[in-house]
Amino acid sequence: MYKLAVAGTGYVGLVAGVCFAEKGHQVTCVDVDEDKVALMKSGVSPIYEADLEELMQKNHAAGRIDYTTDYKAAYRDADAIFIGVGTPEQPDGSANLSYIATVARQIAESIEKDCLVVVKSTVPVGTNDKVEQFIQDFLVNNVRVEVASNPEFLAQGSAVHDTLHAERIIIGTESEWAEAMLKEIYAPFYLPIVSVNRRSAEMIKYASNDFLALKISYMNDIANLCELLGADIQDVAKGMSYDERIGSKFLNAGIGFGGSCFPKDTKALEYIAKQNGYELKTVKAAIEVNKEQKTMLYKKASKRLITFNGLKVAVLGLTFKPGTDDLREAASLENVPVLLAQGANIYAYDPVGADRFAKEFPEGQIDKGTITYVSDIEEALANANVCFIFTEWGEVKAVLPHKYRELMRTPLVFDGRNIYSVQDMQDAGVEYHSIGRPSVTRAGMQGANKLELQNA
Ligand code: UDX
Repeated sequence: MYKLAVAGTGYVGLVAGVCFAEKGHQVTCVDVDEDKVALMKSGVSPIYEADLEELMQKNHAAGRIDYTTDYKAAYRDADAIFIGVGTPEQPDGSANLSYIATVARQIAESIEKDCLVVVKSTVPVGTNDKVEQFIQDFLVNNVRVEVASNPEFLAQGSAVHDTLHAERIIIGTESEWAEAMLKEIYAPFYLPIVSVNRRSAEMIKYASNDFLALKISYMNDIANLCELLGADIQDVAKGMSYDERIGSKFLNAGIGFGGSCFPKDTKALEYIAKQNGYELKTVKAAIEVNKEQKTMLYKKASKRLITFNGLKVAVLGLTFKPGTDDLREAASLENVPVLLAQGANIYAYDPVGADRFAKEFPEGQIDKGTITYVSDIEEALANANVCFIFTEWGEVKAVLPHKYRELMRTPLVFDGRNIYSVQDMQDAGVEYHSIGRPSVTRAGMQGANKLELQNA
């Protein structure tokens, strides 16, 4: 078993550290934030993630994981140091590498024995060559240091499971020493290991994420066409999924992809391509479709309603997907401000994301409208004029169609995640608009109770 240090305790670093400890390694997680370190030492996870806190407590009690701000002590005699700090997007789409550079410098100044530095953060292809050179330039002691690339593919909400049961471990190395050590570190995981050179490993991360982003944008593009042609995107996806070359995953049309990876990594790869004189047309298209898609529901609702001014608007779901409190690039962030600017009185429900959302949109008057956070979906729906569904939380899916009819002033639902069957909503007497499927409309508008199916 190895003595490992992990730099950065966000999704990537903390989950990796905890999983390495779970597999028997001795792990020290390093973060600059003292409050966060104190929190983790007390057994509390700074992020909302299934199974994480339990494994933190278990491995801390077993003495296999600890947390510190003292990077020197953590790096000094580590066999390997994993870097999992953020590489946030800059305004031009490029990745900000300043956190990686800071850690690289600290490593160079701290290590006292041969050490493998493993970069887990998503970095532009070629970065790890520079990181290695940078560390060697600043090395204080005469030790061997090499940099390997080991991108991760965890999804938020299932990060621990995705790490312990990954479909593959990608390792990008430039020496047999580095390759052998990484293989040994991962040996207790019993997972398939794909060993390639450093640049290929870096590229695998972008190519995988951007391919999935492309898949979603493709389905959203087809969904929009389905609406015009009277086809149903869910049936189309089902039919496509039987072809094993296409597969059944990531075919869900909706209001676009959000989160910390797809939006950032599509823009970053497009930027890298441009820097190298190449135009990555497919990825560019995926970005464009996604931008349009995020406000698709609002555009539909604006066609249906003259104004949102003074209306009670129920918003169900704020996070970019269920199972996380993360709001990065969430569709709610694009839609809520435009609704508020139009004077909507929003009643927002999210089982875990409301507090974070309230930091950006504090309860009360904002612009011409107001926002109120409720912990009960029925309170959001009571007497509402219109309802938007932005995240497919289990709690939202559990609301039966007839509830919208019973609770709302006018049962008018815009569903960005296609969580209901169109037929069920029609049977329940709910006017219903979703993505890429026929709408249930109110024939003759106000006053008429007859609902009929209609293409957009
Ligand atoms: C993603 C990748 O799945 C993961 O491998 C990578 O390491 C990081 O990025 P994550 O962003 O946590 O993970 O979430 P994911 O479940 O992939 O969803 C991303 C976005 O795509 C969400 O907004 C989700 O709603 C959307 N999505 C996903 C769709 O719109 N349709 C789909 O069919 C699948």
